[in-house]
Amino acid sequence: MLKYIEGDPRFKRVRRDPRGLIYTWTRKEFKNLKRAEEAGVNVPKPHSFYRNILVMGFIGHDGVPAPLLREATPGDPEAFYRRLLREVRLLYTGAGLVHGDLSEYNIMIWEEEPVIFDISQAVLLDHPLSNQLLRRDLDNINAYFSELGVEVLDVEEIERWVRGGAEDLC
Ligand SMILES: Nc1ncnc2c1ncn2[C@@H]1O[C@H](COP(=O)(O)OP(=O)(O)O)[C@@H](O)[C@H]1O
Ligand SMILES: [Mg+2]
Repeated sequence: MLKYIEGDPRFKRVRRDPRGLIYTWTRKEFKNLKRAEEAGVNVPKPHSFYRNILVMGFIGHDGVPAPLLREATPGDPEAFYRRLLREVRLLYTGAGLVHGDLSEYNIMIWEEEPVIFDISQAVLLDHPLSNQLLRRDLDNINAYFSELGVEVLDVEEIERWVRGGAEDLC
């Protein structure tokens, strides 16, 4: 956890004991969700937090959570892939965040659209790990969708675009 907290000016003076770290982690996930939501990224709506408890909107119906990308295949994988990349770009350019643990385990399919969640480890763009994490997130997405038969885009091209490149990629 420290690796993702150190280097983040939002959490300069935090307790380093296990309990303190867990509380910081909860606060970090809440703040990250807020930033993402304000930028218009499709994430669960953050409500509040207390100590190690975070309350957010439920994605699903009647207590049944929406399927993870891991558990279901989007109806139109090509369109879903492109939509997901647009979300990653909005998270970067709008919220100033790199998710850092993006994979089919942390993306839900809800009404044929991607919902990104589990965002506690996400880092700000000037965090020393942000480049490396963005690359890993994009590699994971490309691996998943190429397995589905989608003709994925070149990862370096996506990287440039996510960072705000002007070309019309997705
Ligand atoms: N907002 C939500 N709405 C519905 N289900 C959720 C929500 N957040 C998490 N879940 C469910 O809980 C599981 C674990 O959540 P996650 O945030 O990925 O925690 P972990 O740190 O264990 O990976 C997810 O795979 C998903 O099924
Ligand atoms: Mg998870």
